[in-house]
Amino acid sequence: MLAVLFICGGLVAIYLLLCVTVLKIPKCKSTAKLHGKTVIVTGANTGIGKVTALDLARRGARVILACRNESKGLAAATDIKRETGNNDVFYMHLDLASLQSVRSFADNFLKKESRLDILINNAGLLAGGKTEDGFGMIFGVNHLGHFLLTLLLLDRLKESGPSRVVTVASLAHLWGNVDFNCINTHKDLGLGNSSMVLLKLYGHSKLCNMLFTHELAKRLKGTNVTCYSLHPGAIKTDINNNCSLFWRLIMIPAMFLFYTDVQSGAQTSLYCALQEGLEPLSGCYFSQCDVGKVPAKARDDAVAKKLWEVSESLCGLA
Ligand SMILES: NC(=O)c1ccc[n+]([C@@H]2O[C@H](COP(=O)([O-])OP(=O)(O)OC[C@H]3O[C@@H](n4cnc5c(N)ncnc54)[C@H](OP(=O)(O)O)[C@@H]3O)[C@@H](O)[C@H]2O)c1
Ligand SMILES: *[C@@H]1O[C@H](CO)[C@@H](O)[C@H](O)[C@H]1NC(C)=O
Ligand SMILES: *[C@@H]1O[C@H](CO)[C@@H](O)[C@H](O)[C@H]1NC(C)=O
Ligand SMILES: *[C@@H]1O[C@H](CO)[C@@H](O)[C@H](O)[C@H]1NC(C)=O
Ligand SMILES: *[C@@H]1O[C@H](CO)[C@@H](O)[C@H](O)[C@H]1NC(C)=O
Repeated sequence: MLAVLFICGGLVAIYLLLCVTVLKIPKCKSTAKLHGKTVIVTGANTGIGKVTALDLARRGARVILACRNESKGLAAATDIKRETGNNDVFYMHLDLASLQSVRSFADNFLKKESRLDILINNAGLLAGGKTEDGFGMIFGVNHLGHFLLTLLLLDRLKESGPSRVVTVASLAHLWGNVDFNCINTHKDLGLGNSSMVLLKLYGHSKLCNMLFTHELAKRLKGTNVTCYSLHPGAIKTDINNNCSLFWRLIMIPAMFLFYTDVQSGAQTSLYCALQEGLEPLSGCYFSQCDVGKVPAKARDDAVAKKLWEVSESLCGLA
């Protein structure tokens, strides 16, 4: 009896300790104002992206919500305008699962907007199926769509410097790997729809986000554009909603115990977008509003370069 009490007490103590250490995300302390600046946030209609866009709007930025669903995008714009009093908040259609849509978005944006100060590659999903161009959905949306989007907007970012590209990766990169044989044959980094397979593909895509940022930083040396990737934390959002019942049954208690609110989830994105003096850390990965630890595979120069070249060719750029 006493032993049981002892163990329970120990577990509660460990849990509370986790809550104030690993699970606690500090607030982004930057007081930067963004009047006269333009930002794009992808997937800004809900979750981490919406809170990020709202904070940037509150700081006075002109905010473009780049979303795939018009009614959700317009509703988010209305919410953000109402909550911040900033009327320079716009929805523009972007479906990252279509390279054509990425190109149209970029054309449209470049025609209408004279500057771009911050690009936040936030959208992401954990779902099966294929993109319009036949890539695995997760690889196509989380990595390839954002790769093309960033490249198409790069000149405008350079003209507007100092400017930043922030890409929301994940701790899930730890179980990712980049298999070029797979990309070349299946365009998919693997096939399948089971929860375990999707989770692996998700890890691969998030590793790609980090390798992309690593290589982009090198290519941007000597410009006034810097770039960062990050883990937002374990955050209660809709991202698991399209998974199997089995997976959701595992995630519900995990979310209840270990996941934090979206407000906290936006802090590291905001830190990377706003924190003064971050420029020397271009290419780095952040977690909890600080530089994070990166395994060798996520800063491998040769793999990062090859992923860049393969991505260019998959996007029809090379
Ligand atoms: N939540 C976490 O614990 C966690 C942990 C690590 C990393 N992340 C990363 O954080 C980022 C934000 O995720 P979240 O948790 O806020 O998830 P979320 O609430 O599901 O939001 C994801 C956003 O991405 C959009 N999106 C999905 N596919 C798209 C496409 N093809 N084109 C354009 N937009 C698309 C979604 O649009 P719809 O509303 O139309 O679906 C939604 O706006 C993702 O990159 C995710 O991988 C999250
Ligand atoms: C957009 O979202 C709304 C509300 O969730 C949904 O009813 C509608 O079918 C979606 N539209 C598209 C094109 O996916
Ligand atoms: C959920 O996944 C299925 C296939 O796995 C896909 O057809 C559907 O479009 C997905 N829904 C969302 C909202 O991503
Ligand atoms: C995965 O699901 C999609 C539709 O949801 C289907 O078209 C595809 O064939 C499935 N792939 C595998 C490998 O089962
Ligand atoms: C970077 O910005 C500084 C200050 O605005 C400017 O003096 C410099 O010319 C810019 N460098 C490039 C390469 O654009």
